[in-house]
Amino acid sequence: MVNKRGSGNRDRRQSSGRGERGLTVRVKTARGRKMSSTLWLQRQLNDPYVKMAKLDGYRGRAAYKIRDIDDRFNFLRQGARVVDLGAAPGGWSQIVADRVNSHGNDPKKKIGKVIGLDLQPMEHLDGCQFIEMDFLDEGAEDAVKELLDGEADCVISDMAPFTTGHKATDHLRIMTLVEAAIYFSIDVLAKDGVFIAKVFEGGATSDLMTILKKYFTKTQHFKPGASRKDSSEKFLIATGFKGKPADFDINNP
Ligand SMILES: C[S@@+](CC[C@H](N)C(=O)[O-])C[C@H]1O[C@@H](n2cnc3c(N)ncnc32)[C@H](O)[C@@H]1O
Repeated sequence: MVNKRGSGNRDRRQSSGRGERGLTVRVKTARGRKMSSTLWLQRQLNDPYVKMAKLDGYRGRAAYKIRDIDDRFNFLRQGARVVDLGAAPGGWSQIVADRVNSHGNDPKKKIGKVIGLDLQPMEHLDGCQFIEMDFLDEGAEDAVKELLDGEADCVISDMAPFTTGHKATDHLRIMTLVEAAIYFSIDVLAKDGVFIAKVFEGGATSDLMTILKKYFTKTQHFKPGASRKDSSEKFLIATGFKGKPADFDINNP
């Protein structure tokens, strides 16, 4: 059932989604529908996380990925200040807002902050300030910093550009976004802050790890249970930000 706040009402920790599966739904290929669309629809209809997201009131199955990541690395503390890049439609922000208490639903806990950014619009979510902008546009980073009004504890990125179908091009496009997100995080994170970003398997991922290792005490890859097994996505997890170097210039990192 959808919670009126637009937030999930059951923050199930580490439910695998297994056991929620009903009978397999088969979709007939309809005239005018491409085979790939038919397969996508069939996968959606049979995906236990898609079903769970509907029941839990989350805006998408992606919510369970950040839930799984936080259950493992425990960085979404109450009162934390979080920047969520590629936030639409808002599944990650729902989980984050609940865990850092940015909506203030729990008056006994510290109140956090969630700033979401996406080039697509996002429906209002309590406890989340949203910026509709391309992260690579001039002014995007300043817009986030203005709302943040101080340092962030976590910068998380689920940004993924629309795919062109050309593997090498798609890989480079997401790497450009993640690299920009890394340098942004160096600019805004508080000491001991955390950076998390989605990447896809491919050559340039190790270059990003090399950058992260310079600024964070611990870096690793993680594939959450909610990430589809047949997807090449994985997440870069960088914890223990060492602090912004005095000579760091985001325009010339
Ligand atoms: C997988 S979705 C994010 C899902 C989101 N984490 C959630 O839980 O609802 C990827 C998002 O990245 C956004 N995106 C892609 N390129 C972007 C860019 N250059 N700037 C901002 N957002 C971008 C897309 O618009 C899309 O909404």
